Amino acid sequence: NEAQVRDLVESRLVTIPDFPEPGIVFRDLTPVFADAAAFHALAGALTAPFDGAFDHLAGVEARGFLLAGAASVLSGAGVLPVRKAGKLPRAVLNEEYALEYGSAALEVHEGELAPGSRVLIVDDVLATGGTVAAAARLVERAGWQVAGISVAIELEALGARSLLDGRYEVHSLLTY
Ligand code: PRP
Ligand code: ADE
Repeated sequence: NEAQVRDLVESRLVTIPDFPEPGIVFRDLTPVFADAAAFHALAGALTAPFDGAFDHLAGVEARGFLLAGAASVLSGAGVLPVRKAGKLPRAVLNEEYALEYGSAALEVHEGELAPGSRVLIVDDVLATGGTVAAAARLVERAGWQVAGISVAIELEALGARSLLDGRYEVHSLLTY
């Protein structure tokens, strides 16, 4: 159950102060990815609360790709890669955003999914929420629906919930 997955993931999670800049408390999930049982359990726990409510999984480059890929194999839903700007070869939609330690732009191929497709956005860490908010804007501009947002870790003090403004169902396995 979810409490067991939470304990397993938490037992592997590593916290690094002052990375990538002074003042940032970095939550590193690479040991979870390296542990096949923990990774499998995490991927399942991300989609379970949204069972039956999504057609595709959006994974945000780069760490979100790992989670979306694993969850795709478990759930049978295909992946929409949400890429950092300049990587996708066909016509794109672009959204700029700020995150806890910088700013960037994300892109999706327009027309990649059927109109009205229900897309569950998955990522490892929800910090300011800037990244998933940009992914949600891309999904909506493309003519698809945001089925929800599911993350492994939410850093509550950074206020993602207020940025997302109650507009989406947000699930986080662990909260700090
Ligand atoms: C990290 C993380 C989330 C985002 C969260 O990605 O994987 O996508 O930051 O921050 P936010 O809620 O403040 O937007 P990063 O851009 O560092 O990219 P990476 O996956 O390539 O390491
Ligand atoms: N992405 C944004 N903020 C982060 C943090 N504190 N740890 C890991 N990834 C992040």
